Amino acid sequence: MILCGHRGVASLAPENTLAGLREAHRLGLEWVEIDVQLTRDEQVVVAHDEKVNRCTNGKGWLRQFDRDELSRLDAGSWFAPTFADERIPLLQDYLALAARLGIHVNIELKLYPEDDAERLCRRVSEVMTQGAFDQNMLLFSSFEPDCLRQLRVLQPDIDRALLVERIPDDWQTQLQQLKCTSLNCHHRHLSRARAEAIKAAGYRLNCYTVNHTSKAATLAAWGVDMIFTDTPQDYLTTGSRPC
Ligand code: G3P
Ligand code: MG
Repeated sequence: MILCGHRGVASLAPENTLAGLREAHRLGLEWVEIDVQLTRDEQVVVAHDEKVNRCTNGKGWLRQFDRDELSRLDAGSWFAPTFADERIPLLQDYLALAARLGIHVNIELKLYPEDDAERLCRRVSEVMTQGAFDQNMLLFSSFEPDCLRQLRVLQPDIDRALLVERIPDDWQTQLQQLKCTSLNCHHRHLSRARAEAIKAAGYRLNCYTVNHTSKAATLAAWGVDMIFTDTPQDYLTTGSRPC
C-alpha cells in the first residue's frame, strides 16, 4: 500500500507548501496530495481553506486575493517560525518541484459554493498544458463530479478519482460515467465488503486521512491501494509500513 503525504506532510511542515513537498521527498514518499483553488486573477494556487486566515498571516476569502497580494502573505509562521519564508505556491511551481523530486501528485480541485467549476478546470488544464508535466505522475480528484466531467474532456490522459466521504450505492455507475480510475473515500465509511467489491470491479481504492498505523494495516488487508496521511513518518520509523 502506498503512503501519500496529505497536503504535503501536514504534521511536519505547513500544509500545501513547497517545504511540505521537500519534507515528503526527505521521507522518501512517492506521492503527495494537495488542494488547489483560483485567485481573483485566475491563478491556480495550492491551498485548502476558503479563507487564508488559518494558514497565513492574512485574513479574508482566498478568491478575493490577486496572486501578487497572496504571495506577500507568510504561509509558514503559523506552523513554526522556521517556516516564515513559505508562501502559498502556484500549482505550476509546485508541480515543477515535484517533477524534479520524482514525486507523484494527487491534485484535489477544491470547489467552494461561490467558485466556478468551468474557470477552475480550464485554468488547471492550462497549467498542465503549459508545464508539459508528465501525465503519469498526476491524479486529479474532486468532491465535485462536474469538475471530473470537465477534466475528462480537457485533460483526458490524466487519471481521475471520484472523491467522496461516504461511498454512494451507485459508486460503480458514477465511476463508469466519469471514466475514473480510482475512488478516494474517507476510511471511516469503508467496509471490507465494499473495499473488495471496488477492487473486484477493477478500480484503485484510496483512503483519507489515515493517521493510525493499526487502521492502515486493516485497510491494507482489505486491498486499499493508497492512504493519505498527515503522519507518514509513523509508518516509516516504527517499521510498520503497511505494504
Ligand atoms: O483528497 C483527500 C482529502 O484531502 C480530502 O479532504 O478536506 O483534507 O481536502 P480534505
Ligand atoms: Mg484535500
